Amino acid sequence: MSKYRVQDGALVDGGPLTYNDDVVRKFTIAAVIWAIVAFSVGVYIATELCWPSFNLGLPWTNFGRLRPVHTSAAIFAFGGSTLIGTAFYVVQRTCRARLWGPPALANFVFWGYQFFIVMAALSYVMGFSKSREYAEPEWHLDIWLTIIWVTFAVIYVGTLVKRREPHIYVANWFYLAFILTIAVLHVVNNLTLPVSWFGSKSYSLFSGVQDALVQWWYGHNAVGFFLTAGFLGMMYYFIPKAANRPIYSYRLSIVHFWSLIFIYIWAGPHHLLWTALPDWTQTLGMVFSIMLWMPSWGGMINGLMTLSGAWDKLRTDPGLRFSVTAVGFYGMATFEGPVMSIRNVNALSHYTDWGIGHVHSGSLGWVAFISFGAIYYLVPKLWNRDGLYSVRLASWHYWIATLGIVVYIVAMWVAGITEGLMWRAYDSHGFLQYSFIESVVAVHPFMVMRLIGGLLFLTGGLLMAYNLARTIAGTKPLIPGLAAAWPVLGAAPAGE
Ligand code: HEM
Ligand code: HEM
Repeated sequence: MSKYRVQDGALVDGGPLTYNDDVVRKFTIAAVIWAIVAFSVGVYIATELCWPSFNLGLPWTNFGRLRPVHTSAAIFAFGGSTLIGTAFYVVQRTCRARLWGPPALANFVFWGYQFFIVMAALSYVMGFSKSREYAEPEWHLDIWLTIIWVTFAVIYVGTLVKRREPHIYVANWFYLAFILTIAVLHVVNNLTLPVSWFGSKSYSLFSGVQDALVQWWYGHNAVGFFLTAGFLGMMYYFIPKAANRPIYSYRLSIVHFWSLIFIYIWAGPHHLLWTALPDWTQTLGMVFSIMLWMPSWGGMINGLMTLSGAWDKLRTDPGLRFSVTAVGFYGMATFEGPVMSIRNVNALSHYTDWGIGHVHSGSLGWVAFISFGAIYYLVPKLWNRDGLYSVRLASWHYWIATLGIVVYIVAMWVAGITEGLMWRAYDSHGFLQYSFIESVVAVHPFMVMRLIGGLLFLTGGLLMAYNLARTIAGTKPLIPGLAAAWPVLGAAPAGE
């Protein structure tokens, strides 16, 4: 641990250094809890899609209201808590600086963010929604989230500014792109006109096709900057750390960064192919999506090659196995995405479960797996334990979850292509060959298969939660006697 910091290009004595890990511990626990909630609601809505009677005839439990609870719990609660927690961990380590500002400020981000999530979920269940996918909360909550996010950004940038390392490590660039871009996307896409103070109803400032374009500029970049850039920051920190190897190519990581952020921002129109959006805009979205393949695979290769000379670690470290498999799924989803953005392919895939298969190969395989890898790495460190409670249990988690993903996405691909082909089939008189309900009946077995995949994934998540709880409560402190002195969410130890 260095006690020096950079000032005017020179190293000066910066005094002793301790990290604020308290907030990281809180976000880590929240991430695990939200993972279980998100997977459980996912399983529940998957059950509703198999047997509609599970809607229970109640407004609060119908598919339309629970679906955004699932997507928000998965993306913003589980993904967001992992992202903010690891961002706070990584920025401190790579900058050798304690989080900027008083601990109360970081705590405000934690509690404020959790409050946002709970209120958003409650509001969906009660039927309040802006009906913009991934941006459903009504305007009060949007303003609240803006305040939290700006505070998060200030702490992050403040820490970068007071760093004791001359260089800003590449993981921070990815985290920073995530933080800044999400702020811009959130503010612009949620520009609405409230029509009542307490009635919680507002209407978008945009209309018609412009509205759709703004929404999918937001929606796609939520994928690019929330579900991708931030998690790439995680990849660039935790894989080299766990493998104890430097990044395969630092130069490639910089090229990866700039090309990814430049190209991603233009690809949104691929969500609006074959719509009223002008043709040239659709083509632009398609071309940029195909171009995205290259930086995405450059990043994947960089992540995987970092393992060169350390592949044997995969046998003993299930956390690393999660991270590396995640990079593989990242490669797969970013191959599939550009293919789906080709107009003629999209004519088949759009509106079908193929899209759901693509989403979950990205979200289960990439987002959730890279998060599991980081969480398995972090928990023993944050609670000062001598490793996980059970490596074998983590290994079981890995295999059950991997099987779950494969079952899930294969079911969705088959269902999606079946739907696409049935919807475009004509008979010799030029009439549609199948009614819509026939396609619903045809894919029923695959809905059940997806449910089984989801149940497997949830089972793996429960094993993880148990393993981590036992690790935290464990009796094997790294420094004997010290761990007992801290409450579970107590003060951080002096820096690493
Ligand atoms: C046990 C695990 C999971 C199950 C069973 C599950 C199930 C589902 C179901 C049934 C839907 C609705 C599909 C439809 O409308 O036809 C859905 C949508 C979605 N899920 Fe999951 N999910 C799981 C995990 C996740 C995770 C971890 C994430 C993200 C990190 C995620 C992100 C999404 C998204 C973004 C959608 C909306 C997709 C779209 O509109 O195209 N899911 N999920
Ligand atoms: C090169 C990268 C990628 C490209 C070009 C791409 C492209 C696409 C395309 C064309 C669609 C279907 C649009 C439609 O027909 O409505 C789509 C949907 C989606 N993709 Fe990707 N994808 C990429 C990577 C990813 C990754 C890594 C993830 C995530 C974890 C992801 C998450 C999603 C989600 C959530 C949707 C569903 C949006 C919705 O309709 O609700 N994508 N993507």
